[in-house]
Amino acid sequence: AKNRVKVAVTGAAGQIGYALLFRIASGQMFGPETEVELQLIELEAALGALKGVAMELDDCAFPLLKKVTCTSDYAVGFKDVNWAILVGSVPRKDGMERADLLKINGGIFTTQGQAIAANAAKDVRVFVVGNPCNTNALIAMNAAKGVPSDRFYAMTTLDENRAKTQLAQKAGVDVTAVSNMTIWGNHSATQYPDFYNAKINGKFAHEAIADQEWLKGAFIETVQKRGAAIIKARGLSSAASAANAVVDGIYHLTHETKAGETYSMCLASNGEYGVDKGLIFSFPCRTVNGKLQVVDGVKLNEFGTEKFNVTLNELRGERDAVKELGLI
Ligand code: NAI
Repeated sequence: AKNRVKVAVTGAAGQIGYALLFRIASGQMFGPETEVELQLIELEAALGALKGVAMELDDCAFPLLKKVTCTSDYAVGFKDVNWAILVGSVPRKDGMERADLLKINGGIFTTQGQAIAANAAKDVRVFVVGNPCNTNALIAMNAAKGVPSDRFYAMTTLDENRAKTQLAQKAGVDVTAVSNMTIWGNHSATQYPDFYNAKINGKFAHEAIADQEWLKGAFIETVQKRGAAIIKARGLSSAASAANAVVDGIYHLTHETKAGETYSMCLASNGEYGVDKGLIFSFPCRTVNGKLQVVDGVKLNEFGTEKFNVTLNELRGERDAVKELGLI
């Protein structure tokens, strides 16, 4: 018999949801041997639109999709799920104070964390996409009493993919030649895409690409600000590429990593690389025997250490703000 996985997706009627659900249902995330049940969670006001999405899922006749539930009730939506993909969130809008943003999301992610703890399967894993994703994951993790903290992740896979393509295009190689592309820190404009440790055909990227000024300047900035550039060009934020990154990110977590390679994932620090314990930080990771490991021994030079500290301090600031509000 095939395996079966129950997956909750919040914000399922949104842009990313519309690009993501069909990829999950097609088997691209969990593989051809795993059947899927989707538990789609939306605000009550969006349940009508969500019904339309569910009708389209029906109309795909996906062989692996065994059940679709649509709900605005967290107790129903998170019931027995093995994965909770938290996409719905309230991103910062022009003129919004950071404290207001943290308060709104604090409420959402506290309630969702509690509902996951109360209703999800024992092996539940939680993948946070909705921004600010690191801090939303931190809030959910702290609220989900009884769920081990190593089950919570936030997504830097889109940043990793963006960085890989930038390096490949600059080097004039296929994107598959780029590996070990670590994003350190926060999924925000302070993230450090570590070109010093990235590899192109097994060679360090900074040896394969001669233009050091580009690497230290335009490359990093392009990756950090890519989200804003997409909004400017498309008039809407990245959705298909974000959904693709969710598929890649959870694929990485659930499949063995190739020897010598790493991927980027935000998870609760255990003190690795001097990051405060419990902070949700993006590290170089591997999946070995089904278990996520932070790869140690990646060297940061003076330039890298400086960038690393900037993003670390930003995350400390977000955590302290959330603490002040009594959210964790
Ligand atoms: P969207 O606005 O199109 O969809 C969000 C959906 O979430 C809406 O349908 C809304 O009704 C729903 N929602 C809001 N609060 C909810 C709640 N408490 N429970 C259930 N559903 C709720 O937004 P889009 O484009 O799909 O983006 C979603 C989030 O993903 C945003 O926060 C965005 O900033 C973030 N994002 C993160 C990326 C990453 O790399 N980590 C990349 C791209 C986007």
